[in-house]
Amino acid sequence: MNKLVISGGNPLYGKVKISGAKNAALAILAASLLTDETCIIENVPYIGDVITLCDILRGLGADVRVEKDGKIYVLADRVRDWRASYDMVQKMRASYYLLGVLLSRFGKAEVGMPGGCDIGPRPIDQHVKAFEALGAEVDIEHGTVFAHTGGLKGNEVYFDKYSVGATINAMLCAVKAEGQTLIVNAAKEPHVVDLASYLNSMGADIRGAGTDEIKVRGVEYLHGSEYTIIPDQIEAGTYMIAAAATGGDVTIADVIPKHLEAITAKLMEAGVMVEEGTDWVRVYREQRPQRINIQTQPYPGFPTDMQQPMGVLLSVAEGTSVITENIFDSRFKYLEELRKMGAKVQVDGRVAIVEGVENLTGAPVEANDLRAGAAMVIAGLIARGVTEISSAHFIDRGYEDIEAKLSDLGADIQRLDRKGRTRKIKAV
Ligand code: EPZ
Repeated sequence: MNKLVISGGNPLYGKVKISGAKNAALAILAASLLTDETCIIENVPYIGDVITLCDILRGLGADVRVEKDGKIYVLADRVRDWRASYDMVQKMRASYYLLGVLLSRFGKAEVGMPGGCDIGPRPIDQHVKAFEALGAEVDIEHGTVFAHTGGLKGNEVYFDKYSVGATINAMLCAVKAEGQTLIVNAAKEPHVVDLASYLNSMGADIRGAGTDEIKVRGVEYLHGSEYTIIPDQIEAGTYMIAAAATGGDVTIADVIPKHLEAITAKLMEAGVMVEEGTDWVRVYREQRPQRINIQTQPYPGFPTDMQQPMGVLLSVAEGTSVITENIFDSRFKYLEELRKMGAKVQVDGRVAIVEGVENLTGAPVEANDLRAGAAMVIAGLIARGVTEISSAHFIDRGYEDIEAKLSDLGADIQRLDRKGRTRKIKAV
């Protein structure tokens, strides 16, 4: 396992370019199995989850070519297998999209139960509800989901709760089903909208993505497409919070400011300055951050993926903040690591009380999961002394070239391999 080693105290200055959105890329790559024509997807981040999914698609028989400039070619005309093995899919949650695309392509699918970050139970009951509403039979045995159908038919899919993954899977199944589908209580995240745009670029007929109700009219055929993925609002938010936490002045470029509204609002509430341009935001501060309260909510609310990075900023804010994690059951583990650096936090179920301290101090810490790892990076950037973050591979699952991007902003950060040698490597 490699480590990131950060010597803290350097304010970040300069400009960072944001990569394509991980959670859009994963859905769009999976959706490329719905056509036998070539799909060219641009602005794909070169990160662990993308590399893993490309390997899974190749394992199913797809021809996948990854180019370093963020362009990926997918040609699925030779895909004959509807089974994705347990060990193939264990590494990441997004493997559940294979259920939707294989069921749509073959009328059957066998996919191991998805893995993913350890942030609490990751049930798939809403996914199953969508598949069954569209005419599939679903069984879960020995850790594998078996789904099959005599033909998917349009229907109303009523979600009991907002679910990004289940909304995406419902679209993947409805897009070539016979007749109309109405998805009610649909998730509204930017990557849900990006997938709908991509499918429409392939000849699908999807309306209402980004609202609570998505209408899908099934079509016979989807053709290939050339498509550019939206910027990653979670990566952008991570650098916004890093800029605020270090007291620097950073322009975060190649973003869609509208997607960052909740993050911008809460940073400004904490006294941080955020200026917005057409495709950039500038973050700096003239005073110590002030305490605020955070409630994570589905989009357009404050994103759960930003809860951990924001917790680090609040750990050094003036006053006591209250964080309520409404989406996942166990997304406060990073606070255990933050305590090692001097943070004063108490956790009671879904609520964390964060009493701001003057400074954090460097320590050896773990990256429990992807966004917890990002939080540890921000903590290392502001702590006095050196912080060693182990299990850095979690961070590489979702952040492209994180040490290069941070070094360019003035951070003192390097990567050590398992033998302790410094490695200047691109993420994954
Ligand atoms: C997606 O996960 C993202 N992952 C997560 O990002 C993100 O945190 C999450 O959406 C919320 O925005 C990908 O897009 C690959 P959900 P997903 O279904 O689809 C419960 C990251 O760091 N639920 O919206 O798994 C679920 O347990 C990752 O990039 C059910 O109860 O999230 C959770 O409490 C972490 N039944 C809530 O709903 C279901 O069938 C929201 O989950 C499905 C979900």
